[in-house]
Formats: sequence, C-alpha cells, structure tokens
Amino acid sequence: ARRITVHDIAAAKERGEKWPMLTAYDAMTASVFDEAGIPVLLVGDSMGNCHLGYETTVPVTMDEMALLSAAVVRGTKRALVVGDLPFGSYQEGPVQALRSATRLVKESGVGAVKLEGGERSLPQTRALVQSGIPVMSHLGLTPQSVNTMGYRVQGRADEDAHRLLRDAKAAQDAGAFAVVLELVPAELAAEVTRSLHIPTVGIGAGPDTDAQVLVWTDMTGMTGGRVPRFTRQYADLRRTLGDAAQAFAEDVAGGAFPAEEHTFH
Ligand code: KIV
Ligand code: NA
Repeated sequence: ARRITVHDIAAAKERGEKWPMLTAYDAMTASVFDEAGIPVLLVGDSMGNCHLGYETTVPVTMDEMALLSAAVVRGTKRALVVGDLPFGSYQEGPVQALRSATRLVKESGVGAVKLEGGERSLPQTRALVQSGIPVMSHLGLTPQSVNTMGYRVQGRADEDAHRLLRDAKAAQDAGAFAVVLELVPAELAAEVTRSLHIPTVGIGAGPDTDAQVLVWTDMTGMTGGRVPRFTRQYADLRRTLGDAAQAFAEDVAGGAFPAEEHTFH
C-alpha cells in the first residue's frame, strides 16, 4: 500500500473522519505505530525532552532532527511522516526555512514539515508550500517560545482568542495543510475547527478538533514523573521495562540466566 499523503488528510476532513497522530523518534517505535495503523507520525522536537535528555525543545538541532526523522521514515511504510523544524532553523526567514525543510525532505524523506507560529511564520509557510513542501502549522502553546511564554493554557483572554483565530486563518491562507492547537480552551479549538477547511490537530484542546496528537512517551507511560493532564496513559511501559531489567539482574546474580537452552556447546 502507498504512503498516506496530505490529500488523504484533506479528504478525511471532508468525510468528517477523526484521526490520531503520535510522535515517534526512532525506527522501531515508528514501525509499531505504523503497523497499528496510525496514519500520521510526527518526529516532534519534543525529542528534546522525551528522547535526548534536554530540559526543553529549544536545544534540538537540525542534525538531530534529520537523523531521527530518517530513522522514523525507514521504520514506516504507510504513515505520513511529519518532521518538526527545530528552534532556530526557520526564524531567520523563508530562505533559512527552505534550506532546513528541504534537508528534511531530501535527506530524511519526510512527507511534510511542521513549524510554530501563524502570522509570524507566514513568509516561511508560503515559501515552503510554493516550493512543494507541505506545512503543518502549530499554534496555541508553542514550546519553542517557552522562555517568553511559559507553559500555560493559551487563548483564554478574548484578545488572545481572536489572535489565535487570525493566526489559524493566516496559516490556512498561506497553504498549510493542517494546524496543531496546543493547550487552548476546548470552546476556542472547536471554533477554530469550524472556521477552517483544513484539519485541526488538538493536544490539550478538547474533543472537537479533527485529529488528536499525543507524545508517545507520555501516552505509554514511558515518561518519568509528572505527565500533562491532557494526556491519557494507555500503557505502563516504564514499569514493564523496569521490571524486565530487574528480573534480568536477579537472574544474572542468582545464576538462573543463561539456562541450558541459551547455551552452546
Ligand atoms: O514536538 C511535539 O511533540 C509536538 C506535538 C506536541 C504537537 O509539536
Ligand atoms: Na514540536
């Protein structure tokens, strides 16, 4: 079967179908989600905090993004793979954005890129789309702006809600094929979803967006410590892996592993 494209994504909105998106940062995990039928995989710059051990997404580099995006593409057959443009790889303007996005498309093989910001990233969005690179826009809480924005619900004040709606329409007009809405009130996300002909992808944005995205390490219980309230934990992989490691350690210490069936003579 062929890979899912942005045209399939557009058709899903016309049919009123909701769809799931998950992040992925490596080939093995990506292959699991691909085989599970997840249609869109995001190589998010959340790899910074969820995979590479940084505090935030801010330090993630183009080299890291290119490497892990290529791995996710290699691990998948069917999913549309979207690569995040990391902080500092597109803010200088359309030329820089083109250079960065082209690298992810040519070198890593992603089918689309994502960048943060509506009106503030308009020239970049336009330039990429005109060059044949599908763009997913990211509005609401934009983690690359953590140093000015912090981590809190966006668009609660009327003025902020109007700006978010304007940003979403601007992204659509610039040619974006979808808009992520992160940490915004459900009512506002619903209004944005009704106002656009391109799909909205919610995270902490209530039940009425066209799609839902979760960070895979959060939704499987891999992330240690506190996970955001908008996440649902579908597994407890951290415990499963920890138990496996402990069982192995005990077997080695007690001489129960390796057994006869693991041994060559
Ligand atoms: O990097 C990421 O995981 C994201 C999603 C939360 C949308 O941008
Ligand atoms: Na991101």
